[in-house]
Amino acid sequence: MFPSDLSPERVRSLSEARSLGRIVEFHRVVDSTNTRARDLARSGSPEGTLVLADAQTKGRGRFGRSWVSPPGVNLYASLVLRPGRAPEEVLGLPLVVGLGVAETVAEWAGERTRIKWPNDVEIAGKKVAGVLCELEGEAGRVEFVIAGVGVNLNATEFPEELRDRATSVRLATGRVVDRAVFCARLLERLEKRYESFLAGGFRSLQDEWNRWHGLSGKRIRVVRGGEAVEGVAGPVDVRGRLEIRTAGGSVHVDGGEATVLGGGMRDGA
Ligand code: BTN
Repeated sequence: MFPSDLSPERVRSLSEARSLGRIVEFHRVVDSTNTRARDLARSGSPEGTLVLADAQTKGRGRFGRSWVSPPGVNLYASLVLRPGRAPEEVLGLPLVVGLGVAETVAEWAGERTRIKWPNDVEIAGKKVAGVLCELEGEAGRVEFVIAGVGVNLNATEFPEELRDRATSVRLATGRVVDRAVFCARLLERLEKRYESFLAGGFRSLQDEWNRWHGLSGKRIRVVRGGEAVEGVAGPVDVRGRLEIRTAGGSVHVDGGEATVLGGGMRDGA
C-alpha cells in the first residue's frame, strides 16, 4: 500500500512553515531517518531539509536503544538544523524540539499531554513520542544538528516489553491521526519555537517548557554517565537543566535518564 496520507506534496501543501520542511524527502523504508538526514547534511543540504519514512528498519532511540518503527501508522521524521552556534549554546535545543512535539500532540490529546524531561512526550504517563538530537561540528562550532522525532500516532500494538509504558495518540484518544496533517502542524510548531530559541536562547522558552513539565514535584532518580542522583524534581533552569532537590541541597543535571520512583514513567518505546 502506498502510504498516500504521508506524501511530501501533502505535507508541504498543508504546512505554513516557511523554513522547516521546505525540502522533503520521503522513503517507504529507510534504515533510520536520522542517518539519512545526517548524510544529506554532510553533503550540504540546507537548514529545514526534512526526511520522512513510512517505516524504519533501524530506528534509533536515546542511549543506543532501538525505536520500534512499523509501516503505515506512525511518524518518523528528521530535520536538518544549522543553528550556527557554539555547542554549549545548543544544549537546550532537544528540549525545544520536545516542546514543539508536545504542543502538537496536545492538539489531538489535550491536557493529559506532558513532557518527561528532557524530551519524551507522554499522554497520561505513557510515552507517545521521543526525540533524538544528534550534533556534528568542530571545536567551538556546530555544523548541523539532526533533530529526529518519532511519534506513535496510529499504532495499536507494541512489543510485549513496551506495552505497559508506551501508547499512541490513537490508543490514548480513540482518534485516528492523519500523518501529514500532524507533520504539518509539527513543522509549524517547531519552526516557531526554534525561531524563539535562536533569538533568545532557552531562557525565552523556559517558562513555557515548565508548564508542560510532567516530573515536577515527583520523586525521581536521574542516571547520567553511571552516576545517579535522587530527589524531588524542580523546574528546568535557563539552560534546560533539571533541578533536583536532594537531602544535601539542590543539584542541576544537564542530561540523563529519569525514572519516577515508586512506579510510573520509564524511558523507551
Ligand atoms: C527516544 O529514545 O526517545 C528517541 C527516539 C527517536 C526516534 C526517532 S524516529 C525518527 C528518527 N530516526 C531515528 O532513527 N530516530 C528518530
